[in-house]
Amino acid sequence: MNITVSTTPANDTHLVFLPEESTSKPPDFSGKIDETAIRYQGQNPRIYCGIGKSAAVTADIVRTAAALGIRKAAELKRDSVSLLEPRMKGLTKSWSLALVEGALLGSYTFTKYKSEKTTALRSLEFVGRSISAKEAADAATLCACVDYARDLTNENAGEVTPERLAKEAQAIARASKSVTCTVLGENEIRRKGLGLLHAGGMGSPFPPRLIFIRYTGDPKSKKRTAIVGKGITFDSGGQNLKPTSSIETMRCDMSGAAVVLGVMKALAALRPKVNVIGVVAAAHNAIGSTAYFPGDTYKSYAGKTVEIISTDAEGRLALADAISYCIRHFPPTEIIDLATLTGAIITALGDTIAGLFSNNDALAEKLFESGRKTNERLWRLPVCQEHREAIKSDIADLRNVSKLKKGHASSITAAAFLEAFAGNLPWAHLDIAGTAFNEGESRGEVTKFGTGFGVRLLMDYFSNYKP
Ligand code: BES
Ligand code: ZN
Ligand code: ZN
Repeated sequence: MNITVSTTPANDTHLVFLPEESTSKPPDFSGKIDETAIRYQGQNPRIYCGIGKSAAVTADIVRTAAALGIRKAAELKRDSVSLLEPRMKGLTKSWSLALVEGALLGSYTFTKYKSEKTTALRSLEFVGRSISAKEAADAATLCACVDYARDLTNENAGEVTPERLAKEAQAIARASKSVTCTVLGENEIRRKGLGLLHAGGMGSPFPPRLIFIRYTGDPKSKKRTAIVGKGITFDSGGQNLKPTSSIETMRCDMSGAAVVLGVMKALAALRPKVNVIGVVAAAHNAIGSTAYFPGDTYKSYAGKTVEIISTDAEGRLALADAISYCIRHFPPTEIIDLATLTGAIITALGDTIAGLFSNNDALAEKLFESGRKTNERLWRLPVCQEHREAIKSDIADLRNVSKLKKGHASSITAAAFLEAFAGNLPWAHLDIAGTAFNEGESRGEVTKFGTGFGVRLLMDYFSNYKP
């Protein structure tokens, strides 16, 4: 994809954004939100996109409008599009960047396994003066990293194995001087005592990996954020096998890992002044004669023992060991994990808002604000003493499913489990089970299937970072 900025349109397909009050609206077009209309000037389509009342325009509204508009262009098989900056008082840089983002993210399709391909966007021209070529190019780089995360999520589980996730991390490190990568293989995972991560991967012919990618953008600072992604490359549920209709999308259970890899790629390219350690806990939760057993107890890297109530609560196991190993060997000053952790978060917040859990109000507020700005929205839920009590086991130190009534507060008790491994460090957990994968139709910039939810949110967080 090629992006340019100019002052006169060079392509014959134009995206035009108009508010309801505009006097240059074509007939039968009212400018309402979500409204689009195609009008021809000779052979050349103008795609009008409504942005509602001008006094109420927001970055979210224009991002969505651009996504709807660009999909119209694709339907018309146009691969080179000029996006015209809205002529409006109070136009801000952030709206213009949101327009670019909306167009780029909204044009994504996963067509690898389709015989008939849809028209892919080859070049986008931003026509206006509110953003520079560099700012547009940086936005395009970020969107490409979101698409990278989407591609990883959408690809077959038989392809995106733990080993493949490690290869992706190594490729990111190879391409940048400020990124290095360390991978623990199955034997090391077992020998070093990462008993929980190991257990979750036991049933699979695709052995687990623990992956660390270090980005150093501020060598003088001692601060370092760990971002830890759940990388269950397929979650069958293990011996607690998932039923039909819950299992079909479970290749998405490595979405947290895909986001971590997408963020590391974006950091390497955009080089903000921060230090980040990306951690991927990668395993395939398979069913089979070598799979781990419900009722058995396994020992974590931190030394705590865990009674396995359900082999389907595997994500918290993999993450717990990843967090502990990271704390000991690549000590961070704060931890943010991303995980498709619980079905219950979908019941609570649906598929547009992710769960936020944290032991640190300042960190939670910053993440919440980044979510608001990027439209990768979060909503905070509590973790309280009764939830910490509920994951104590009679036979081991902890249990991987709480002893509360079935289904009660299960997103919260999952978070409490992770919290127990974060020590005293500021920690935040994003439960992205609802937002990582869109099983429905495209919604604005959120396209079908893997969404890459979290890449823009974390990059916003890092771009506002004050050491
Ligand atoms: N990967 C699932 C959670 C999930 C559900 C992700 C739907 C995406 C969409 C997770 O490993 C899981 O199975 N969680 C269980 C936990 C339960 C056994 C306590 C759940 O949510 O049912
Ligand atoms: Zn599971
Ligand atoms: Zn899972």
